Amino acid sequence: MTQKKDDDLDYETTGHEWDGIREYNKPLPRWWLWTFYATIIWGIAYTIAYPAWPMISSATPGLLGYSTRTELSQEVAAVEDRNAAINQRLVETDLNAVADDPELQSYAVNAGDAVFMTFCAQCHGSGAAGAKGYPNLLDNDWLWGGDMEAIHTTVRHGIRNETDPDARYSQMPAFGADGILTEAQIDQVVNHVMSLSGTPRDAEAAEQGAQVFADNCAACHGEDGTGDRSQGAPNLADAIWLYGGDYETLHATVSNARFGVMPSWEGRLSDAQIRAVTAYVHQLGGGEAPVEQD
Ligand code: HEC
Ligand code: HEC
Repeated sequence: MTQKKDDDLDYETTGHEWDGIREYNKPLPRWWLWTFYATIIWGIAYTIAYPAWPMISSATPGLLGYSTRTELSQEVAAVEDRNAAINQRLVETDLNAVADDPELQSYAVNAGDAVFMTFCAQCHGSGAAGAKGYPNLLDNDWLWGGDMEAIHTTVRHGIRNETDPDARYSQMPAFGADGILTEAQIDQVVNHVMSLSGTPRDAEAAEQGAQVFADNCAACHGEDGTGDRSQGAPNLADAIWLYGGDYETLHATVSNARFGVMPSWEGRLSDAQIRAVTAYVHQLGGGEAPVEQD
């Protein structure tokens, strides 16, 4: 069926033959072969020059000493170098004077935005609007204070954490769980708290709750319930709630108390970063002018 060509026999064969089909022994094309050798040499050279072979705890480092980690830290160092002067200026400038220096303020707000997205947004939300238990930082309702110094202290040391001895601290008693108030008194004081910002569930109870409030709550939340920043005691009269203003939530708050914790950032962020994020939070909308001190 197949016609043998004469020149077939001129080729060297491997000697293998199946059913009359012989296997030629044809050399690979030169160009292919050299390219192949070149890749082998390249491969060996590469594993000598760069990190390659897995060892027990790491890989062989390679003669060039290259690592993506070193490269990253060099890039980070370069950026830090570039910002060193302005960071220094930020650290040395009085907190309340940062906003008077447009270049510094714009740098601080941009750098602070980046810090916020990386370290604060998990709790306070990427838009800083907060969530239940995590305060909204966009408004002028402050637990601990909204001027530059107050925000700076809060961010630097945190709140009720166990790591920073200078953390802001206060603790509301668990009036129900610790048996300080009876169930009836809690019902009255909750109604009273509701009446401060709108309508109580039960007007009569709310009236009776005024005395309970004066005796048990006013020391921290103020006689009129407008709060006390030196203790981080929220304003209860403004209808802005950290945990919630409905009867059930208020009942739970008064019975069991709350214990909001914010980490300390000193030592984890640089001084410049802490100041930058302070400036960022301050300009979000609720920032206050410095308190006059005499
Ligand atoms: C693990 C969660 C968490 C992280 C992360 C966190 N916070 Fe907070 N932060 C809180 C909580 C909870 C409170 C409220 C504590 C309280 O009830 O007094 C708070 C309160 C604050 C306050 C005080 C608000 C006021 O009304 O006085 C500021 C300012 C603030 N955080 C800024 C920041 C900044 C800036 C960062 C990032 C560097 C940050 N927080 C990261 C949980 C967090
Ligand atoms: C020792 C001070 C102290 C006393 C006394 C105290 N509180 Fe508080 N209260 C606080 C602090 C501090 C917070 C904020 C807790 C937090 O954020 O973790 C708070 C939070 C609250 C909240 C939550 C507000 C919100 O925005 O969600 C309510 C409601 C409240 N207190 C009601 C009361 C009532 C009612 C009493 C009296 C029966 C009382 N507190 C007594 C310190 C106090």
